[in-house]
Amino acid sequence: MTQTIPSKSLENKFIVLGVSGGIAAYKAVEVCRRLGDLGAHVAVATTQAALRFVGAATWRALSAEHIHHSFWDDPHPIPHTRLGQKADLVLVCPATARVIAAYAAGLSDDILIATLLATQAPVIVCPAMHTEMWEHPALQANIATLQARGVKIVPPGVGQLAGQDSGVGRLAEPDEIVRAALEVVASSNSLKGKKVLVTAGGTREPIDAVRFIGNRSSGKQGYALAEEALARGAEVALVATNPRELSQGINLCLVETAQELEAEVSKRAGASDIVIMAAAVADYKPVSALPTKHKKENGAPTMALEPTPDILLALGASKKDGQLLVGFAAESGDLAQNAQRKLVSKNLDMIVANDILQPTAGFDSDTNEVLIFTKAGEQQKTPIASKREIASVIFNSLEKLF
Ligand code: C5P
Repeated sequence: MTQTIPSKSLENKFIVLGVSGGIAAYKAVEVCRRLGDLGAHVAVATTQAALRFVGAATWRALSAEHIHHSFWDDPHPIPHTRLGQKADLVLVCPATARVIAAYAAGLSDDILIATLLATQAPVIVCPAMHTEMWEHPALQANIATLQARGVKIVPPGVGQLAGQDSGVGRLAEPDEIVRAALEVVASSNSLKGKKVLVTAGGTREPIDAVRFIGNRSSGKQGYALAEEALARGAEVALVATNPRELSQGINLCLVETAQELEAEVSKRAGASDIVIMAAAVADYKPVSALPTKHKKENGAPTMALEPTPDILLALGASKKDGQLLVGFAAESGDLAQNAQRKLVSKNLDMIVANDILQPTAGFDSDTNEVLIFTKAGEQQKTPIASKREIASVIFNSLEKLF
């Protein structure tokens, strides 16, 4: 029997949320909740001033443990080293000019800065302050120092600031901050030494020199999977039908037809540890394509179609020991049954199914909502999430199959 597991892409991750004293602290409440919803153990460390904006009771209700705001009033004898050592990520949100300066200077005068100095985990700093302060050369020099040490800065946006002011300096939106946290935590080198092959986008099967049979796949989910694999330290090849923005370091090969995609995939699949067929490959193509343009005056053409090679089926039949093979199923009905049938018939390790009739899922959407089935009998339904978050859930689940 299968069980439904909620989507927890930050499961088992210990995140220290450092909150300093600015009005943007209220947005950190949303960040705290979202990280917790994604499965993270969130420990909140605040400055004294931060507690004037959002009180201890709020943090106690939302975080996973006692709030840390003082060396002298903490259940742990040495709270900053415990937090620093346990952390998979320290996220400072919001970061005031003082906290940024103290961190850059190594001035350990409160529990938050002490934790930042005591950790070897990745650190993300999300500055929020008035425009004049953000643009001050002293502040910018401190930001440059932190960046040079490998700290990730989520830059402030433009908008309303405290009081009646507006300009650059407003804390980045919680969405962007959570995405940065996911990216940094995922880049844990969990796929170091592994080769990952991903396909993306819809194929185009020519009818004549101008027209083709295509589909509405944007390739966004496949691109997000390739980015996630790269962030986890894998060597990544992406065979895609359409160009999109892509990180350097991913080996991109652009193709057009199912046949071209098959040729490129079969060249690379044998050497890959994970193959993810996210491409929407045409099932049928015209038997012959006109090399010129079909003229309208010649009347409506009739077209004979023939099946394209089922690339995934062939990959499943020739799968090496230890290789993981993932298929996608875009369905408009009987999602679970169709997906589970394909998992078995194509000898897959995982199938990712989505209901294309949902506007928040599937083609050209920036979000997706999927049902994942694995050969190990795990069933997982994700909430609506960005395609990158879905990619993270897919890899978390895949890594358990190695
Ligand atoms: O059987 P169905 O086409 O619905 O399965 C979808 C999965 O099969 C996707 O992972 C897709 O990339 C793959 N596929 C394929 N070759 C085809 C058609 C689909 O590899 N000709």
